[in-house]
Amino acid sequence: MPPSDTTKSGRLRVAVIGLGGIGGVAAGALAHAGRHDVIACGRRPLKRMTVDLPDESVEVPLTVVTDPGQVSPVDWVLLTTKAQDTGSAGDWLRALCGPQTTVAVMQNGIDHADRIAPYAGEAAALPVIVYYNGERIADDHVRMRHISEADVALPETDAARAFAELLAGTPIQPILAADFTARLWQKLLINIVVNPMTALTRQRQGVLQRQDIQVLTTALLEEAVAVAQAEGAGLPPTAAADTQRLVLTFPHDAGSSMYFDALAGRRLEAGALTGAVVRAGAKHGIPTPMNNTMLTLLSGLSDGIA
Ligand SMILES: NC(=O)c1ccc[n+]([C@@H]2O[C@H](COP(=O)([O-])OP(=O)(O)OC[C@H]3O[C@@H](n4cnc5c(N)ncnc54)[C@H](OP(=O)(O)O)[C@@H]3O)[C@@H](O)[C@H]2O)c1
Repeated sequence: MPPSDTTKSGRLRVAVIGLGGIGGVAAGALAHAGRHDVIACGRRPLKRMTVDLPDESVEVPLTVVTDPGQVSPVDWVLLTTKAQDTGSAGDWLRALCGPQTTVAVMQNGIDHADRIAPYAGEAAALPVIVYYNGERIADDHVRMRHISEADVALPETDAARAFAELLAGTPIQPILAADFTARLWQKLLINIVVNPMTALTRQRQGVLQRQDIQVLTTALLEEAVAVAQAEGAGLPPTAAADTQRLVLTFPHDAGSSMYFDALAGRRLEAGALTGAVVRAGAKHGIPTPMNNTMLTLLSGLSDGIA
């Protein structure tokens, strides 16, 4: 296939779906770097975004479109809605994806490619593990914090190398990880403990210190690690205990994404997190009764308030 005009000029067309903590930072940082043509796809029109990056605060002009009928296929789509909103973003994906498009799925969970398959046609899917903290301060104001040595982890693929190149000039630091599947599961283990416990109890992370909650989280983690091993994640035998120890070091006054969604009466990301453990367990014939119970309670909470 001959190179497109954008490929020849080096400028690529990038669309960011969702302008919350993660998408607002990604769109703002890419627009500020100025190397590519960035549009943002949101539910409210905006003309500018203030982005508090780790080293500077910048105000960048940002074209936000609100109608999928106004866009056409691009080189890169960054999908940054919560996983449960992927379906509602389906019209954006259909309009933005062509055979040359790669969709960087910047969401939690492990089923990134399956999640977009019904909407993305021939576009390729790139799963992205997001480590940076993105916080929406207002519709037109987001803040980025580095949390670990890398801000996003990617599998060792050509698409991932191209995505890392796309991010050049932004503070979003990528890492290509040979142990990508292990990292997906390590993040999922944290998420199936911290998110459900804080959302269901309506308590911040200090609640994880309770002895009775620790009994529960150990059981959730042991089930999930058995499933992860069956999935070939290559986790160490100590993974459940390691995760338990790690979450106990988290700040007691920190909330979680699901905690804030529950307080706000929004739908919860339970299907992509706890649900992923339950589905993978069923596939391998590994019982996950504790995670299944959590999923039932979270689904009731999420659907009951939707
Ligand atoms: N925030 C973090 O620090 C962090 C860290 C690691 C991983 N993650 C993961 O990253 C993903 C994104 O999280 P987030 O914190 O950025 O979520 P968020 O702040 O809730 O932002 C999601 C954005 O998606 C938008 N959206 C939802 N449905 C849409 C649709 N149909 N069309 C257009 N926009 C739509 C929302 O719009 P409205 O404003 O209209 O609701 C919102 O702006 C999640 O999977 C999360 O678990 C987040």
